[in-house]
Amino acid sequence: MTTPYGSYELTRFPEDPRDRLRAWDAADEYLLRHLDAGTGERGPVDLAGAGQITVLGDRWGALTTALAAYRPTQITDSSLTRSATAANLDRNGIGTSKATVTLLTTQDPPPEKIDVLLVRVPKSLALLEDQLHRLAPHVHAGTVVVGTGMVKEIHTSTLRLFERILGPTKTSLAEKKARLIFCTPSTPGTPGTPGTPGTPDAARPAAPGPWPVTYTVDEDAGYASGLTVVNHAGIFCADRLDVGTRFFLQNLPTNTDGARVVDLGCGNGVVGTAVQAHDPDAEVVFTDESFQALASARATYRANIREGRRTAEFHVGDGVAMLAPGSVDLVLSNPPFHSHQATTDATALRMFAQSRKVLRPGGELWIVANRHMGYHTHLQRLFGNSEVVASEPKFVILRAVKEDRPRPM
Ligand SMILES: C[S@@+](CC[C@H](N)C(=O)[O-])C[C@H]1O[C@@H](n2cnc3c(N)ncnc32)[C@H](O)[C@@H]1O
Repeated sequence: MTTPYGSYELTRFPEDPRDRLRAWDAADEYLLRHLDAGTGERGPVDLAGAGQITVLGDRWGALTTALAAYRPTQITDSSLTRSATAANLDRNGIGTSKATVTLLTTQDPPPEKIDVLLVRVPKSLALLEDQLHRLAPHVHAGTVVVGTGMVKEIHTSTLRLFERILGPTKTSLAEKKARLIFCTPSTPGTPGTPGTPGTPDAARPAAPGPWPVTYTVDEDAGYASGLTVVNHAGIFCADRLDVGTRFFLQNLPTNTDGARVVDLGCGNGVVGTAVQAHDPDAEVVFTDESFQALASARATYRANIREGRRTAEFHVGDGVAMLAPGSVDLVLSNPPFHSHQATTDATALRMFAQSRKVLRPGGELWIVANRHMGYHTHLQRLFGNSEVVASEPKFVILRAVKEDRPRPM
């Protein structure tokens, strides 16, 4: 990526030589050009004298890497983003020591005072709303706020959020199908009015956002019936049980007694918590790449499993890469079909291969998926077997068993 700040070699995470998708796009480039030279009537931003710079929602660390000389703080929900950023900083000889960048998650307390807020608009409006609410008390009337995204990612509702939570908002002209968002933080107590730059803003209220939201599962969801489900902003299907998840819950394996069971891509953790509620002797492991998801799964688990009975493990990261080979009896998953904005089955296929590695001989992978994804063939190729456990018009539940002997790959 060539920018006014330098040229950088960047990759996504986990690195895959077959992956032809770039780790940056026109929205990242437009923002960096604007910061250096200005856009329309907006001048350049003097980052060297700007104070605290926060980058929210960077996808693969392109913005954080290009701006590393100004010691930015990155805030992300994605552990893949965080790993990509660390790897990209390293690759470009920058590193993540305290002297350069600070990597925070969406669950960490934000920097005390933010002077420049750069926002890569996330796919989830709910996550944007939640994060703007969290950051608002740390923004002052002089904070420079610039958002960026591809035109198709920025909607009227996106601009309304900036306007409602921070202050008056305008957009730039589009360039290479990307657009910038300029927001002028209001003086506290006068929403809609641009603030006086330099005015301290300690009084900006920490408006409580609506998140996390909680619902109770109805009676038609197998072992999950009656569970309380806690959902932090931005997670998959945060306000109700997903149709595919419900079908999975209605058809979960019954023989989990004493088994080590992974809820892979756990989201709000309803699947793993249902297993534990049904079988107190199961050892449940929750994994997800999203910090918001892990926080939700922990909260769901705590809301339903009594203190003395809590034995679960929680891991944030890529699939089950963090678990030891042969250490698991059963993997349960409703796998993702998106990676940030891109629709792809690459993540699901990587999860299947990882699952095979961590399963003990005779261990099983159960997945629920849209029928049209055609995962049956992939599992057959990978495991040497694949069986339909249940099916309905839209979804199938598939089971693959790890054979005793290693398969030649
Ligand atoms: C379709 S959702 C299922 C969520 C939950 N199990 C349910 O049924 O409601 C897929 C989940 O996979 C997670 N995910 C995406 N990429 C992942 C990765 N590389 N490793 C682990 N989890 C990932 C997403 O954050 C999301 O929570």
